[in-house]
Amino acid sequence: MSSIDYSQKIPNNVNLGDDRRLQRALENWQPAYLDWWNQLGPADSSELEIYLRTAVAVDADGWAQFGMVKMPEYRWGIFLADAEADRKINFGMHKGEAAWQDVPGEYRSDLRRLIVTQGDTEPASVEQQRALGRTCPSLYDLRSLFQVNVEEGRHLWAMVYLLHAHFGRDGREEADELLARHSGDADKPRILEAFNVPTEDWLSFFMFTYFQDRDGKFQLNALSESGFDPLSRTCRFMLTEEAHHMFVGESGVGRIIQRSTELSAKHDTLDIEAHGGIPLPMIQKYINFHFSICLDLFGQERSTNAANFYTTGLKGRFGETKIDDDHVLDGASYKLPDVEGGKVVWSDQPALTAINEVLRDEYHEDSQRGLNRWNKAIKAAGVAFDLRLPHTAFNRNIGTFRDVNASPTGEIIGRDEWDRNAATWLPNDADRGHVKSLMVPVTEPGRMANWIAAPARGIHGQDVEFEYVKFH
Ligand SMILES: [Fe+2]
Ligand SMILES: [Fe+2]
Repeated sequence: MSSIDYSQKIPNNVNLGDDRRLQRALENWQPAYLDWWNQLGPADSSELEIYLRTAVAVDADGWAQFGMVKMPEYRWGIFLADAEADRKINFGMHKGEAAWQDVPGEYRSDLRRLIVTQGDTEPASVEQQRALGRTCPSLYDLRSLFQVNVEEGRHLWAMVYLLHAHFGRDGREEADELLARHSGDADKPRILEAFNVPTEDWLSFFMFTYFQDRDGKFQLNALSESGFDPLSRTCRFMLTEEAHHMFVGESGVGRIIQRSTELSAKHDTLDIEAHGGIPLPMIQKYINFHFSICLDLFGQERSTNAANFYTTGLKGRFGETKIDDDHVLDGASYKLPDVEGGKVVWSDQPALTAINEVLRDEYHEDSQRGLNRWNKAIKAAGVAFDLRLPHTAFNRNIGTFRDVNASPTGEIIGRDEWDRNAATWLPNDADRGHVKSLMVPVTEPGRMANWIAAPARGIHGQDVEFEYVKFH
């Protein structure tokens, strides 16, 4: 296990000091990063002291140290998981060859594109969430938001390190562009659509950390299988941080559901708006929205790009090495959807071109697990309501279902029917207005907003009442 050198201007466990040129280039990028953080990072936050964790070593247990930190003084740095001795490429045409420590010339532009696309989502989410601190439901939650934000900032560092260390001048230019594009910017938007809408309320934030960060988990896992070893090691460490983001999402949505269920049981109705809660049917609409836009993040069902990334060993499948097959997928097939005669039908197609769908299906299954837990809790509280993931055809903007309308249960419907029902399937203005009306800041230690239940326990052994954020 390697520990992290905090005596350097840029904390790292990659012996950055041995490569003066690279060190200087990154030290030049650092002030631009801090400028970006101060301008587009969490609003009104620079003077707050926050109970944050910081990486001290990259092994799975006990890598973190907790303490009160002002965010502009957070030590963002470069942390790679330890190298595996004699690591091999585990799939595609180079299967069995030694993993690459340098970028193979022929895959340079593909690898750069994969890294830039991943890297772009990291600062994007910080920008999307920047105003949320003003309406936190508790200090505990405010701290969770800021922890996620500083770690997304670090994920940007992770990708920028790869660009600077392995892609020369192009890489440095791409690193600058990562700070030049902004979420929702008319001229220079972020690359992926789901990262260009602001996260305006805390229900959306918890949905985001449940659904979008889970997309991150699946992308990072597939990239951690890469034959390009520095990318693999970077992503492996990022995944340990990502796990916490999903915890914030699952527990956050879970606590809202718990409170909504309590209010529904008490007043014997799902209609709890007047009681200051978020009705379960409204939560269902937010699930419909976030899940469907996240399915788009996995790309087209049939993709020769994805097939090439796989065959050339750049990006694997989720848990590639644990899958029991030839890891080449020659002649293998996979079920893909099509719309035929007004219905969704499935047929066997070449597995290689279906790589995106394979990852999307894994994501789908993983997303369902949290819903199962939430539904169990709703049932146990004696409320009759079942949360469901919408059908894969619902509300899609990429791939097979882009040009059709589908109901949440997967019936292909006409435009009229969609227009008549969209406001009952997706959050409408009144829903968003209600949720927004509940977003009043609660900053007394231990207190929670009325629409969310308290967490079962605090952070890192602290009480829920602990002052996780100090304003003075
Ligand atoms: Fe991230
Ligand atoms: Fe994340």
